[in-house]
Amino acid sequence: MSVLALVPAAGDGVRLGAGIPKALVRLGGVPLVVRAVRGLLDSGAVDHVLIAVRDGDVGEMRDLFADTAAVGVAVGGADRTSSVGAALRCGLREWPGTEIVLVHDAARALTPPALVASLVAAVAGGMDAVVPVLPVADTIKEVDAAGAVERTVDRSRLRAVQTPQAFRRPVLERAYAAGLVDAATDDAGLVERLGVKVHTVPGDPLAFKVTTRWDLELAEHLVGS
Ligand code: C5P
Repeated sequence: MSVLALVPAAGDGVRLGAGIPKALVRLGGVPLVVRAVRGLLDSGAVDHVLIAVRDGDVGEMRDLFADTAAVGVAVGGADRTSSVGAALRCGLREWPGTEIVLVHDAARALTPPALVASLVAAVAGGMDAVVPVLPVADTIKEVDAAGAVERTVDRSRLRAVQTPQAFRRPVLERAYAAGLVDAATDDAGLVERLGVKVHTVPGDPLAFKVTTRWDLELAEHLVGS
């Protein structure tokens, strides 16, 4: 089956505070987005990748992937959802035979290729939508605007959700065409609203999202730089 991965990489990375877009921050000398895309292609399960970037970064991103025709670049949007929507439109124009679409954060630079392959296999095996999840280790509480605890949530049924998230193509297309698109924090959230069942597979701690300085230090440690 023909598999396209969309990589939203148009964020500013304000929480990381590197002064450059997070996707271009180097980890052991290699930009986060390059590591993320390598992980996708190394899985052997992904045929094409479409990266959504900020307008001003298109040239630099094209240069980073100049040696592979499997990778395309599009201009992203003001939030993650519009970046994915732009990548989806551009990617399906470029590779119209696509049957499975993955969405993967550029910031999850150390995601193991085996995790990518397991998600593609789940959709190829018949599921409409699949996300990688981990159990939640901390106790979770809801608080009010002043920070006072309102209640404690039963964590046994809670899962932290990672990327890549994998979809049968028409399902993701419908989610983005349905006018339900807003600033959702993940793509499965849009698909759930269509009434489509979203399945889970075990995630991997290495698929963590580099968000803060601390995450970057952890990632540096893990790659031995
Ligand atoms: O901000 P956050 O870490 O949740 O972003 C997740 C991913 O979405 C990152 O890879 C980021 O580059 C991307 N993003 C995007 N367009 C935006 C905002 C975020 O592609 N406007």
